[in-house]
Amino acid sequence: MALKNNNPTQTEAWKKLEEHFKVAKNYELRKLFQENKERKDEFSIQFEDFNIDYSKNLISKETIQKLLVLAQEVELKDAIEKYYKGDKINVTENRAVLHTALRSNSDEPVFVDGKDVKPQIKTTLRKIKAFTSKVVSGKWKGYTDKPITDIVNIGIGGSDFGPRMVVESLKFYKNKLNAHFISNIDGDHVYEILKKINPETTLFVIVSKTFTTQETITNANTIRDWFLKSATVFDVAKHFVAVSTNIDAVVNFGIDKKNIFPMWDWVGGRFSLWSAVGLSISLSLGFENFKLLLDGAEKMDNHFRTADFENNIPVLLSLISIWYTNFFNCESEAIFSYSHYLKDLPEYLQQAFMESNGKGVDRNGEDVTYQTGSIVWGSVGTNMQHSFMQLLHQGTKMIPADFIGFEESLYGDKDHHTKLMANFYAQSQALAFGKTKEEAHLELKVEGKLEHLASLLPYKIFKGNKPSTTIVIKKLTPETLGMLISMYEHKVFVQGVLWNIYSFDQFGVELGKELAKKMLESQKIATL
Ligand code: F6P
Repeated sequence: MALKNNNPTQTEAWKKLEEHFKVAKNYELRKLFQENKERKDEFSIQFEDFNIDYSKNLISKETIQKLLVLAQEVELKDAIEKYYKGDKINVTENRAVLHTALRSNSDEPVFVDGKDVKPQIKTTLRKIKAFTSKVVSGKWKGYTDKPITDIVNIGIGGSDFGPRMVVESLKFYKNKLNAHFISNIDGDHVYEILKKINPETTLFVIVSKTFTTQETITNANTIRDWFLKSATVFDVAKHFVAVSTNIDAVVNFGIDKKNIFPMWDWVGGRFSLWSAVGLSISLSLGFENFKLLLDGAEKMDNHFRTADFENNIPVLLSLISIWYTNFFNCESEAIFSYSHYLKDLPEYLQQAFMESNGKGVDRNGEDVTYQTGSIVWGSVGTNMQHSFMQLLHQGTKMIPADFIGFEESLYGDKDHHTKLMANFYAQSQALAFGKTKEEAHLELKVEGKLEHLASLLPYKIFKGNKPSTTIVIKKLTPETLGMLISMYEHKVFVQGVLWNIYSFDQFGVELGKELAKKMLESQKIATL
């Protein structure tokens, strides 16, 4: 069954939130913390190795209660059950949305068109495991009988961002295989990677659900031509494997049917790293780590499905995001990871959030009259502190931010990690509490800058009151990364339900593709 069609702005809860906003828009974080010494604890959730502190947001208990009523009124609970049970909630493509089934260890069957999808998932995981073991152990040999040293993932969008982000984020756990990712149709991108690899010892994983995506097919053909300069067509099957639903096209390319890993139409591209699309993850990190990633995601899935909404991490994060987008009129949200390993996370999340919720037509087929799909961006701390953070601290825009940090570093250097985390907390505190006129005045006095005091003072004030959420995780592991990604996936889902839009299609990316195709067919590039 489809998701209910509920215009959120027509609900009673929305009207109450609008009323409440007249007071809440004047909330001051300094005051809220002074008035309630327990605020940090009262607005924090501990779940497994995650601590989510959302106390530095412009909210009160009353705000949360009112947002929770909104969630009830749009029947979020019912929507979550439909999502997990395989209802065709991707109505515009007539598909179920079942990335949660990919990481489920439970025996509960999940039916799509009357067929349980769980057995195919298990079979595919076994195939990934066996293949990974052959390649990593060196049993899989290239055309000159040498073991594989390098793998190249050829794919774009969801067939690239997820595997690339996970491999980069977890490279501490990597095995000896070198992993490369080719996505862009820019030939220079392709040739830069080809420069680094040897055709005799490289395995190419072509990932394309449709096997028709222009970038991926062009890149795969260029690479096969390059490969055939030193090998023969009979060697293609030893060096190319594919993840796709389009078996005929893959076989035509020269790939052995045995080496095709399945994809399913009930897994969206941007939610597919948990399927065989994650083959490069398994090859780079080992199957055990790939499985731990899935198990971590499942923990968050279970939390999201079963926890009360007032203690439900993805639900609360979504509601707070709606509060900023639709009441404070914030345009964007930032994600700052205080781990250099997570440098690709914002790019990955941009597709998850913006391809999903960048929609202007509601589930009733009508133009929405309210904001949807906030702009997601970010970077890693502390680098970004020396870049755009000035704008967040003293600029005119309100940009709610998630700060993601870890209690422990992976190499265990305490000195570095203490400094890193001091910066992590300092940024969120500076944003929240700023520096008052009196504090700035005193500081200038202490510094002996009395003669310039009046002229400098306005520039030294930090207004503060800039919201953020701190997410502190024990340690970066495959399991906690799985939990983190799953947390954001469910945040995307809840936002889509509340905004009354369809989050799982992406027709908006088609027009540009069509125009480029027409230009290429007519051999005329319109430079207008
Ligand atoms: O960008 C649009 C899109 O359809 C994404 O959703 C998808 O992840 C990507 O293109 C790649 O598609 P395919 O896996 O079919 O090559």
